[in-house]
Amino acid sequence: MTRRAVITGCGSFLPEKILTNDDLAKMVDTNDAWIRERTGIKERHIASEGELTSDLAIEAAKKALAVAGRDAADIDLIVVATTTPDLTFPSTAAVVQAKLGAGVGAAFDIQAVCTGFIYALSTAEKFIASGQHQNALVIGAETFSRILDWEDRATCVLFGDGAGAFVLEGRDEKDADGRGVMNSYLRCDGTMVDLLYVDGGVSSTQSTGHVRMQGNRVFREAITRISEAIECVVADAGVHVDDIDWFVPHQANERIIKGVVKKLSLRENQVVSTIAGQGNTSAASIPLAWCAGVDDGRIKKGDLVLIEGMGGGLTWGAALMRA
Ligand code: ACO
Repeated sequence: MTRRAVITGCGSFLPEKILTNDDLAKMVDTNDAWIRERTGIKERHIASEGELTSDLAIEAAKKALAVAGRDAADIDLIVVATTTPDLTFPSTAAVVQAKLGAGVGAAFDIQAVCTGFIYALSTAEKFIASGQHQNALVIGAETFSRILDWEDRATCVLFGDGAGAFVLEGRDEKDADGRGVMNSYLRCDGTMVDLLYVDGGVSSTQSTGHVRMQGNRVFREAITRISEAIECVVADAGVHVDDIDWFVPHQANERIIKGVVKKLSLRENQVVSTIAGQGNTSAASIPLAWCAGVDDGRIKKGDLVLIEGMGGGLTWGAALMRA
C-alpha cells in the first residue's frame, strides 16, 4: 500500500523585534530606497539576546501541532532545517524534541542553507512513505542575524530570523484524498561554494564565521537553477505549470521571484510573498510564507502548491504537493 505524507498542520513564529531599512541606514551606508528596489525588503525580525533557534522552532511547532490536532507525544520524527543551530551538537532537533516533550523517535538537523526546508521535507516524506515513521515535524528555523557581518551592507540588509513548521502524517493513498507531498527535486553543485558561504566553522576556525556572498553571481544562477528545478518537478509529477494553484518560493529577493514567474509563465497573483516584512529567513522562509498563505485563506485543502529554493552550496530544489 502506497503511503502519502499529508500536511495536516502548519505554524510559524517571528521574533518580536523589528529592524527596518531606516534602522539599517543608521548602521551601514545604505538606504530604504536601495534595499526596496533591489530586494523588495522593507523590514525583518531579529531574535533578541538569549532567544535561540530552538525557541523559534518550538513556537512554530506548537502552532503546527495545534492546527493538526496532535500532541507532541504523537511525533516520531523531527527534522529541523537550519544553518544556525543552538549548538554544534546535539542537533537543534534533539533540543526541540526535549523541550516539546515529543515522542522518542528520530530527530536530526539538515543543513542545506536556504534550500534546507525542501531537503528536510523531502527526507521526512521518504521516511513516512517507507512506513518507518508515522507523524513528523518538519521545521525550518533560523537566527541568521547571528552569522551576519553587521558592517557588510551587501549582506546584512538581506536576512532576518524566524521559524515555520509542518506536521506531516502518513496516510494510505486511498485515505489521502490526493493530498500530500507528490515529489521533489534536490540538487547541489559544491564547485560554486565561493559564491555564498560562511568564512568560519568548527573544524577550520573553531568559530561560526560570517556570511560572504557574491550577490550578483548568485542572482544570475538563481533564476536558471530554480526554473530548472521547477520544470523537472512539474514534469515528473505529470502536471503542467498551469495546474498550479499557489507558488510559495524561498524569499531571497523579489526580483528573483519575479524573474522565475516570468520565465515559467506563472502568474504574479499565484505567488505567496512575505519578503517585504521578513527578508530572507533562509530555511524558515518557505514554511513562513506557506503559513501566511494558509492563515489568510489563500491556500486551501487540496490546492496544488509548488515550493522552491536556492542557497549556499550551491543547493537548489523544488517540491510539489496538494495542501
Ligand atoms: N546599499 C546600498 N548600496 C549597496 C548595498 C546596500 N545595502 N549593497 C551593495 N551596494 C552597492 C554595491 O557596493 C555596488 O556599488 P558599486 O556599483 O559602486 O560597486 C552596487 O550597490 C551594486 O551591487 P550589486 O551587488 O551588483 O547589486 P545587485 O543589483 O546584484 O543587488 C543583491 C545585490 C540584492 C544582493 C542581489 O545580488 C541578490 O539578491 N542576490 C541574490 C541573493 C540570494 O538569492 N541569495 C541566495 C540565498 S541566501 C543563502 O543561501 C544563505
